[in-house]
Amino acid sequence: MDVRVYRRVMTDPATTSPLLAPYVGAGFDLPNRIAMAPMTRGRADDLTGMPHPFTPSYYASRASAALIVTEGLYPSKVGKSGPGVPGLVTHAHVRAWREVTSAVHAAGGRIFAQLWHGGRVSHAVTVGESGPPLAPSAVRKSGPIYTTNGWVDSVTPTAMTAVQIAGTIEEFGAAARRAIAAGFDGVELHGANGYLIQQFMADNTNQRSDRYGGTTANRIRFAVEVVEAVSAAVGAGRVGIRVSPGNPENDIVETDPFGTYRMLVRELDRLDLAYLHVVETSRDFALEQLRPLWSSMLIANDHSSPQPSTQADGERFVESGHADVVAFGRAWLANPDLPGRIARGEPLRFIPRDQYYGAGEAGFSSLESAVLA
Ligand SMILES: Cc1cc2nc3c(=O)[nH]c(=O)nc-3n(C[C@H](O)[C@H](O)[C@H](O)COP(=O)(O)O)c2cc1C
Repeated sequence: MDVRVYRRVMTDPATTSPLLAPYVGAGFDLPNRIAMAPMTRGRADDLTGMPHPFTPSYYASRASAALIVTEGLYPSKVGKSGPGVPGLVTHAHVRAWREVTSAVHAAGGRIFAQLWHGGRVSHAVTVGESGPPLAPSAVRKSGPIYTTNGWVDSVTPTAMTAVQIAGTIEEFGAAARRAIAAGFDGVELHGANGYLIQQFMADNTNQRSDRYGGTTANRIRFAVEVVEAVSAAVGAGRVGIRVSPGNPENDIVETDPFGTYRMLVRELDRLDLAYLHVVETSRDFALEQLRPLWSSMLIANDHSSPQPSTQADGERFVESGHADVVAFGRAWLANPDLPGRIARGEPLRFIPRDQYYGAGEAGFSSLESAVLA
């Protein structure tokens, strides 16, 4: 295995932050280390899955990011996780996303589409006739779930048959082809935060006794097969995957997260993917475990506290060599020129939480409500 010794960033004396140093890696030439993390905004047309008309300018105004990862897009209707999530299923979706990618490219940016299958984190109300929601096993998520009818009881998903597993893997490949047809630079597979891919890896959500359940090698199989199928469809250099080892979000229990993710990352490292995106929920512990096993670009996102991740968190990741690039989430929402603000040492603004999802133009194309931190 060709594991590169990871690099510490030597900050150019002319720059004030290691986050502002360019990154050059296989297939990537990034102007800085500040990526935009995937963030669902819940503003798509709920019936059609068409992105909000202001989506091209929303992303284009953030084109100074090293890389934009879009909000999660559903690769098939049954994978839709909540209200206002956009799709990447129909020709009309492809045409709409082409406007987004063209706008970002015209502004000099790079943009990957996040492919998000919710698995059991969905509801009959959300997936409609394509339901019921699918999952590795018929294990219901504890707690309520958000739908167009508000917060309602979660539902017991249908345990996927072998045929449904194969079909879902094919759907990911087909959605990735549509992403490239729409002009995206690549796709990020959402393997984090308790959705379908992580549901296969976690102990509580995967009770299967076939080749997709039981041993660690079996529980990572779905993730690996999705990555292989998507790589075969669009080329491994256009594929990234996001993981969140040990993250309990969405009622996930992983009893040996680092055993599981070490095996997964070793398997995936062979494939020469564009990047690995790690959501760090344990104060650098996941990065310490996984960075030495990963050869290509590593993007890290600090989610170890409920507060938005900070410039100092990102600088720590890059200076320690744990990450090449840092994804920020909430900091981008009211600071479309985030790298410029960091370079100028300006304070960051934040939007109120009730404007994260839905809420039309407020907190999306209009930032009048943004407040200083
Ligand atoms: C409004 C909102 C929507 C999000 N949607 C997604 C998503 O679609 N896919 C995903 O992988 N993570 C999603 N996340 C998680 C973020 O990518 C990120 O991990 C989290 O916000 C922590 O980073 P931050 O502290 O820099 O905001 C979302 C977070 C927020 C605040």
